[in-house]
Amino acid sequence: MGKVFGLLGHPVGHSMSPNIHNDAFGHIGIDATYHAFDVDPNFIKDAIAGLKALQISGCNVTVPHKIAVMEYLDEIDEEARLIGAVNTIVNVNGRLVGYNTDGRGFVESLEEEAQIDLQTKRFLIIGAGGAARGIVTSLLRKGIGHLTITNRTAEKATPLLKLAKEFKTQAEVIEKKQAENQLSHYDVIINTTSIGMSPNVEYTPLSLEQLTDKSIVCDLIYNPLDTAFLIEAKKKGCLTINGVGMFVNQAALSFEHWTGKKPERERMRKIVLTNLG
Ligand code: ATR
Repeated sequence: MGKVFGLLGHPVGHSMSPNIHNDAFGHIGIDATYHAFDVDPNFIKDAIAGLKALQISGCNVTVPHKIAVMEYLDEIDEEARLIGAVNTIVNVNGRLVGYNTDGRGFVESLEEEAQIDLQTKRFLIIGAGGAARGIVTSLLRKGIGHLTITNRTAEKATPLLKLAKEFKTQAEVIEKKQAENQLSHYDVIINTTSIGMSPNVEYTPLSLEQLTDKSIVCDLIYNPLDTAFLIEAKKKGCLTINGVGMFVNQAALSFEHWTGKKPERERMRKIVLTNLG
């Protein structure tokens, strides 16, 4: 029997991960299949034990299990530990090792699509939840010029400030109004919240009135492909980046952890766009 990989999530019905990974296995010629497993949160511990018992070779982990799985793994990679969440598990001869490819997936998409040197850039991050933590961690590891965070609940950004300090990166938390008034200060503006996600497509996380065309504007959302936030930024003449690149890159990086082989990201992107279209 070929190797078995999977996704642990709840729900998983709309996931595109089985499509892109099964296509990549076929294309590269690896005898393996990828299944989406809908795991009730009450059974996540059993599901992880099941990976070992059934000798499942690896899996992705998605909402709501990314934090819960951590205590059941044998080893956690440094980046995943800093992020505080795991989205990829590799079964190495019965030892389960956790990684997080979300943050790096985003950073690589930013580098590819904007072709910029991050070291000197000023970042505005909107939101301070799990997605923000992944991205901020990977940005800090890579090295950025300055970090500003704005969140509805300001206190929730405190751990991110602490993290920035560990990486000796200047950082601050500011009110939404202040961010809106000084948008031209930021080289890169990233929405990490779910504001604007289908079906609530008319909402934007903050007003872009003061935006100039010098900023790169990113949204982690990929449904819709262009959120109201990105549409507004485009109208101002900005380069915009949606969540497709991050989704594709996190999948490709997981695939590399499992197989040691690089899948064709362009192929993965086409499958995602066809599914979304
Ligand atoms: P995720 O893992 O997707 O980041 P999360 O950890 O629940 O999900 O974080 C969601 C983020 O979106 C948070 O920053 C949240 O703000 P709060 O910390 O104040 O809750 C933000 N968010 C979600 N809905 C929002 C809304 N309607 N208005 C403002 N912020 C919102």
